[in-house]
Order: sequence, then C-alpha cells, then structure tokens
Amino acid sequence: MSLEVSHKITVEKTKNSKLSQVDFNNLPFGQEYSDHMLVCDYEDGKWQTPKIIPYQNISLDPSAKIFHYGQSVFEGMKAYKDAQDTIWLFRPLDNQKRLNISAKRLAMPELPESNFMEGLEALLLLEKDWIPTTKDSSLYIRPFIFASGNGFHASPADKYKFIIACSPSGPYFGGKVKVLIEQQYSRSANGGVGFAKAGGNYAGQFYPTNLAIQKGYQQVIWTDDTTHEFIEEAGAMNIFIRINDTLITAPTSDRILDGITRKSIIEIAEDQGIAVEVRSISVHEIVAASEDGSLKEMFGAGTAAVISPIAGFGYKEKEFMLPELDNTFASTLKQQITDIQYNRADDKFGWRYEVK
Ligand code: PLP
Ligand code: COI
Repeated sequence: MSLEVSHKITVEKTKNSKLSQVDFNNLPFGQEYSDHMLVCDYEDGKWQTPKIIPYQNISLDPSAKIFHYGQSVFEGMKAYKDAQDTIWLFRPLDNQKRLNISAKRLAMPELPESNFMEGLEALLLLEKDWIPTTKDSSLYIRPFIFASGNGFHASPADKYKFIIACSPSGPYFGGKVKVLIEQQYSRSANGGVGFAKAGGNYAGQFYPTNLAIQKGYQQVIWTDDTTHEFIEEAGAMNIFIRINDTLITAPTSDRILDGITRKSIIEIAEDQGIAVEVRSISVHEIVAASEDGSLKEMFGAGTAAVISPIAGFGYKEKEFMLPELDNTFASTLKQQITDIQYNRADDKFGWRYEVK
C-alpha cells in the first residue's frame, strides 16, 4: 500500500483489543470479529472517504430501506498468512467486480475499485495479528453494502454503507455433508437475482434448508426452477460432479453465482489433465451414474468451505451414497488451491495477491 493511499483513509484505533480473548486453536467459522472495521458512506450521490474505526454496532433509523426492501449485497473472501508472516489474498479484484455486479442488479451504487482495495489493504495491515495460522484457518473477510437511507417508499435508497468486517475462522463444515436434491423450492429464477450475492437469496434458502435438515441432510442441492431436473448449486457453493474421471459443473447463468473457487478449480483441474465439462447435468444422469457405479464424487466449492465433499444425496425419498475412495479429485484439488492461497506452492496462474 502506498503512502498516498494510507493518508486518505483515517484510522481510529481501538483502546480495548479483544485479540487476547480469542482461542486461535479452536476457531469456529464467522463468530469472532476482529478489532476494527472499514466503513465508507455513500451520500449526496457519491462515495465518501473510507475510514477505519473500532468494530462496533451500527445505528440506523427504523425506516432504513435495508429493513424493508432488502437492498443488501455482500462478498466472501479470505486473508492468509504464510510462514514468513506475509499476508495474501486470492483473486481479490474478482470479488470487487462481483460486488459491483451484485450492487448494480439491486439498483445500488457501484463502489470504485480504489475504495475497495485500498480500504481492504489498510484494514488487513492493521488486523494482521488477527489472521490465524492454524491449519485450515484464515481471516474470513466480509465486505458488504446496504441501504442506510430512510423511507417507506418502495424505491432505491439515497444513502448506502460499505463495510468490511473480518472474522478469524476455522473450517466451514466439520466433514462430509449429506445433501437433499430439491424438488419443490427454488433458489433463483431466470431474470432474477441468483447471480448476485444479494442477502435475500440466502434468506430464501433457509426455510427449504431447515426442512432438509429435519430429514437428516445438511444442505440442499438447488435444481433449476422450471423442471427441478437440472443440478445448479450446492447450498451456498457451486457444485462439481465426477462421473468416471470426468469432472462436470453446471454453466453459470442468471440463476447461478459465478464462483471464484469454481472457476479456479476448473483451471487447476484442466491444467492437471483432468477432463472438465461445463454443461447442464440432470438428476436423472446422476442417479443413473450412482446406480451403475460411475458416479465417483460430488463436492461443493466456495470461498468459505473451499471444497466440501458430499457423502451422499437424497432424491425422491431414496438415498444414494457415494463410494469411499482413497484418492479423490476433491482432496487433490483442495490441496492444490489451498497451496496457492497459503503461499505453499508456486502460483503459475497469478492469482495470489500480496498485501503490503
Ligand atoms: N454459490 C453461492 C450461492 C455462494 O454464496 C457462493 C459463495 O460465495 C459460491 C457459490 C461460491 O463462490 P466463491 O467461490 O466466489 O466464494
Ligand atoms: C462464501 O463462500 O464466502 C460465502 O459467501 C458463502 C457464505 C454464505 C458463507
């Protein structure tokens, strides 16, 4: 970060660091928050200078439009610290661009790249000691924009807040997950907001996911909203299916988030000589592959969970278990992507971004 940048962002440091109260050897996901946050207000038609302040509550008028009309978009990123204490991000500009794609769809103001990147880097340099180094841990970063402007009129707000909060976190899932292929509810629809990381997309998932949990599953596999015949996403992750030695993932669309982990996995797999097919895949094909033994693996891919192997799936009251393999694509690809993220291996793709 250049000097010119640092003097643009004002920093108010906390007087009461919580760092010593956190057990870095037993970190849950997303439940502890670091000492500071970045805040940038949108007022009078423009984004103001970002500031870093102690992590604290936000005060909003009850008529703030976020509460009524759900104008809220977010990102999920991670900061990693290597053996030399250097801080790394993974493809951060892709998150910055996607935040703006989401904001545009929800009629919210787009944030300049400089506010995002300079704010993020300044915050991470201040929160350096909050980046865990224990295995599979990282500093989960949550940039978000929401409507802070007031009014019950159903129209876009005139004020917004961009905030970055950080959470030292352990793994998202404890182990393999069992999933239910959804046959009634939909996460998204053509022409809708499925491709955006809009808060409401997640609210809409909770009820069907709770129903799946009551049936003994941990996650829902979302299918297309018209026929429920085609596999789209795995909860808040993109999905990969291995039939024999081919890796298949659904094409992104209006309805599917263009995941950064997904596109990185596709590139790493192709680079390893694994056959990858980006195409629609039907439930029928997966059930048939499970029955004839060619279905080898299914896994979700996303920033929070990285790669989450699926143990089995439920479909129309039947259970289909996946085989227990010794060498899986999921474990190899997870190793390769995390080696790049944590700076344990060369980054021939140029994805790693040093924060300094
Ligand atoms: N799909 C959905 C709905 C998500 O919320 C996420 C999480 O960010 C992903 C996929 C994975 O995207 P990424 O790999 O960019 O984190
Ligand atoms: C992520 O993978 O970073 C996400 O945003 C998923 C999340 C809803 C935990």
